[in-house]
Amino acid sequence: MCGIVGFVGRRNAVPVLLEGLKRLEYRGYDSAGVAVLLDGQLQIRKCVGRLRNLEQQLQQAPLAGAPGIGHTRWATHGEPSDVNSHPHTDSSGRIAVVHNGIIENYQELRRELEQKGHIFRSETDTEVIPHLIENELADGAANFEDAVRRALRRARGAYALGILFADDPEILYAARHGSPLIVGVGDGEHFIASDVPAILNETSRVIYLNDGEIAVLKADGASVFTLDGRAVRPEIKKVEFQAEAIERAGFETFMMKEIHEQPRVLRSLIAKHIDSNGHAQLPGFSLADEYIKGLARIMIVSCGTAYHAGMYGRLLFENLAHVPVETDLASEFRYRNPMVDPGTLIIAVSQSGETADTLASVRLARKWGCKVLSICNVRGSTLTRESDAVFYTEAGPEIGVASTKAYTAQLMAFCLLTLHIARIRGTISDSATRELARALQRIPDAVHYVLGRKDDIQKIAGKHHDGPSSLYLGRKYNYPTALEGALKNKEISYQHAEGYAAGEMKHGPIALINEYLPVVCICTRTEDEVYDKMISNIKEVEARHGRIIAVATENDRTVAGLAEDVISVPDMRDEFSPIVNIVALQLLAYYAAQARGTDIDKPRNLAKSVTVE
Ligand code: F6R
Repeated sequence: MCGIVGFVGRRNAVPVLLEGLKRLEYRGYDSAGVAVLLDGQLQIRKCVGRLRNLEQQLQQAPLAGAPGIGHTRWATHGEPSDVNSHPHTDSSGRIAVVHNGIIENYQELRRELEQKGHIFRSETDTEVIPHLIENELADGAANFEDAVRRALRRARGAYALGILFADDPEILYAARHGSPLIVGVGDGEHFIASDVPAILNETSRVIYLNDGEIAVLKADGASVFTLDGRAVRPEIKKVEFQAEAIERAGFETFMMKEIHEQPRVLRSLIAKHIDSNGHAQLPGFSLADEYIKGLARIMIVSCGTAYHAGMYGRLLFENLAHVPVETDLASEFRYRNPMVDPGTLIIAVSQSGETADTLASVRLARKWGCKVLSICNVRGSTLTRESDAVFYTEAGPEIGVASTKAYTAQLMAFCLLTLHIARIRGTISDSATRELARALQRIPDAVHYVLGRKDDIQKIAGKHHDGPSSLYLGRKYNYPTALEGALKNKEISYQHAEGYAAGEMKHGPIALINEYLPVVCICTRTEDEVYDKMISNIKEVEARHGRIIAVATENDRTVAGLAEDVISVPDMRDEFSPIVNIVALQLLAYYAAQARGTDIDKPRNLAKSVTVE
């Protein structure tokens, strides 16, 4: 969603802002803008479309100055247009604001301000902020900081803000409530950004602002206050990953790079968490063994891809740790009455740790007295700060909008957590644990093997990419794989794709099958009857002349005899096959998208982290 960058220091802000905004492009946006202070005046350039449009505008009408704020907008209130792009100003043009989030009571505030004579130019909710601040200044606020505080006390909803005053030219103001914002600490300069990658080439020292905090940033100093004016001691943290982690490293897209990073990410998670006895160790894990033994229920909440990871986690916990588990979409969980009590452990899964619905679910659950364990990829994110325990997936920054390495890392996190919880609860024997650990250790090589088949997968995608729709079928552990494979295809190739539990096919989707429909069947060998049932489903598709693309265990002649195309994967334990199988489907979606000519790293309409409901 919207990206914010800001700079205060002694050099020209514009290149810093543009570079930062480029590094935030992955979040998704439809317009962009910057504002800088020059000779006591606010200068603004903004326009609809990609950053290159803004760069063109800046070539035609160059800007230089500091401090400055920049923004990429993902439209919520008002269509993508030049006038709705940020920064927005007050009536006098002396206050400029960039905003990520939604001001829920903006209509009522706007009405009130219009009655007082404020002239609004855009359809956005954001524009009320500079006008509110202007109003507070006119109404006797002690100073600019006080005006910001007073204005924000009236705003309901979520915001991350960067604010400039033409009449306070040494200072960049920032505020956060419910939307992510960090402060970067440089030498004689400060930055703000929605996310660390935006400023990582400038500094690796950051302050993670908390909700309800305002930062007052000068070239030489940063102060942080609460909305009621109390000073807070900012804690400066060192970011662990390097700037290279957010480069493409020779790959044509971030998504392809991230698909290829999976063996390394998985290997290092296993190496970190499996000890020489085959036991899962979770260093720093703060849920006591007694609590885990007494667990009555687990509830997993998440969105999108992370929801599919949760579905997989449920099967593992139920089968190996014998805990009753429910999964829910965070956006649904919030609005039902899930009957959880303090005996329920909430597991929130989120790559970004900033997803609005997931955060809202966690807050609700905590109100009900539940403990929260999060599985998260971003250190310092809001989710990790609001959880009782965190499992970091440590996949490194994921820039491609469609999640790949974060997903397989989430699946691995569930494997490791399950082994840990199952051992504490005594539901699996020592020898079974060791055997599972050995099988886990084979996963990175198996993923590597699938990556080695990418030319074959590209050919298969090339045959099937041009239809209007496709169906993905899987069972048990690979039902979430079917959903995730279909989601990947939809997101990046824009081909409609439907994921289904294969057993449900006869209850409706079978009507879709004809000689044109690609049907992706995940049918890797298992030791239980699921394999036979999948074979029956494939036969049903074959009988209706569907175009079967099977993900199958290598040398499986039965499947090969039924399918038009086969993507071979190594023989894996049933429980762990989804971590390998999904990689084949990531590549299938990728090559379909490439053949359809889409913008793979920045698919239309999508935002990397969904920070509004
Ligand atoms: C799909 C994708 C999304 C996210 C979802 C939740 O490729 O990335 O479906 O999984 O928006 O995001 P996080 O995991 O950041 O909470």
